[in-house]
Amino acid sequence: MKKNFPMIVFSCMTAVVLLICIYRSLPRKDAAEKAPEIADVIVAVDATPETETEAAWETETGRETESVWDENKRVALTFDDGPHPVYTVKLLDGLAERGIQATFFVIGENIPGNEEIIARMNQEGHLIGNHTYDHVKITDLSVEEACEQVEKTSALVKEITGKDTEYVRPPFGSWRKDLECSFEMIPVLWDVDPLDWTTCNVSDVVRRVLEAVEPDDIILLHDYYESSVDAALLIVDALTEQGYTFVTVDELILE
Ligand code: NI
Repeated sequence: MKKNFPMIVFSCMTAVVLLICIYRSLPRKDAAEKAPEIADVIVAVDATPETETEAAWETETGRETESVWDENKRVALTFDDGPHPVYTVKLLDGLAERGIQATFFVIGENIPGNEEIIARMNQEGHLIGNHTYDHVKITDLSVEEACEQVEKTSALVKEITGKDTEYVRPPFGSWRKDLECSFEMIPVLWDVDPLDWTTCNVSDVVRRVLEAVEPDDIILLHDYYESSVDAALLIVDALTEQGYTFVTVDELILE
């Protein structure tokens, strides 16, 4: 037995080497599956229609895609409580990438130090509205105090953009109709409120908006939270796919 031991070890090793060789020479399943993908890529690159039928089919498909887009299916994204030095900038970048305009209801006390963000909003075609100076409930104030809240904020914006903030989103949605300040004001409420400030869960915010939204709706979000900004950009992508176009609130309100 002792004499045969080296022989047994040698035989076992030979058998293992042989098995490995046989295994490696077998056709690999994953390689067989990948081959058609490469062929697909080649077909995709060669996408120019070669026959009239093919061209006609592509035109027809193009028309179908176009009919999904409907200029009457509009929606307005509105963002309250900003500007935020980081999240508002992230949002503006995302909106610019997508060529989308939104409405920002800014808080006056958040403007000092963030003047460049206000200037950028204006330059990129967003509408800047008023959300009071320090987020107060307008109905708790006297006419004078309430006017001071909106006038102070409007003056800060006007210094940067040259325009008054004609559209006002009253904090907590409470507005007093007898308010006549030094410039014309149009109160703007909302149709869809996902309560984005109550959660950090991006997909919850996206789902709440997508479940509720209808054409001509005003969606309320806050550019003061990163999760809301991330959700907003996902909402833009999903609604664009559904054929929605994005407008600023003045376009929905003035018609
Ligand atoms: Ni607010």
